[in-house]
Amino acid sequence: MDLRHRDTIYQNAKAWVYEAGKIIKEQMNNPLNIETKSDANDLVTILDKQTEKYFVEKIKDKYPDHQIIGEEGYGDQPKELDGTIWVIDPIDGTMNFVHQKKFFAISVGILHNGVGEIGLIYDVMNDILYHVKRGEGAFRDNQQLANLSKDKQLSESIIGMNYFWLCENRLVDYRVMQDFIRTIRGARTYGSAALELAFIAEGTLDGYLSMRLSPWDVAAGIILLQEVGGVVSDVDGNKWDPLNKSSIVASNAALHKTILEIIKKGRK
Ligand code: IPD
Ligand code: CA
Ligand code: CA
Repeated sequence: MDLRHRDTIYQNAKAWVYEAGKIIKEQMNNPLNIETKSDANDLVTILDKQTEKYFVEKIKDKYPDHQIIGEEGYGDQPKELDGTIWVIDPIDGTMNFVHQKKFFAISVGILHNGVGEIGLIYDVMNDILYHVKRGEGAFRDNQQLANLSKDKQLSESIIGMNYFWLCENRLVDYRVMQDFIRTIRGARTYGSAALELAFIAEGTLDGYLSMRLSPWDVAAGIILLQEVGGVVSDVDGNKWDPLNKSSIVASNAALHKTILEIIKKGRK
């Protein structure tokens, strides 16, 4: 992708993310018309839908040849990775948004011919933007993020994961995961995959495990994390597929192989 063209796309995306965040903040205390989707805990609000529509309108107006993968379904359903694809989660952490009114993010990843070129994760309530252009550094607002430490130990690591790993589940023996929890320094569940990936990139979290995530949950975070040397795969070590749901194991490069080996011991 031509770098000047990429920079224009990045500048537009950044302006739209900030504007969308401003609209969410202005409107979040109005009735949210909360509905459920796949199950009773899978929530969606009028602001998830409205925010995605906002991006779709802006993108289709400025870049009619670009495609969009968005959680709420206002985009396209590309089957191939050719061309430029925006992967958008209008509100990642909707449960936090609804119940806590904080700890949610707008997540926008932009791929060109399958390569992650731009990533933006906006922590709306804290007004912190994580952003990256591949090869030009990853940033938290104006501060460039350092490359991740190469000698991190699992025993000194904090790992993001939710409690499903510790209950009977279809993927991994929960007893193996309980042992895993005992070997690490601590576990955290933040409820926004995008932010959890951003935290690994900034070094405040060392890994993140999830059983099933969609492309929009992780696209921007993966692009951000890879820029500082982080590694992402599914639980079996396969490369991330931007067109399909999958499990996610994301971490500091020093830990990735060890985490996969532990999961393998309990893999069903
Ligand atoms: C969810 C969040 C959450 C993760 C869920 C996702 P949503 O996204 O990222 O942390 O555990 O699997 O679906 O629905 O709030 O956009
Ligand atoms: Ca999400
Ligand atoms: Ca969402």
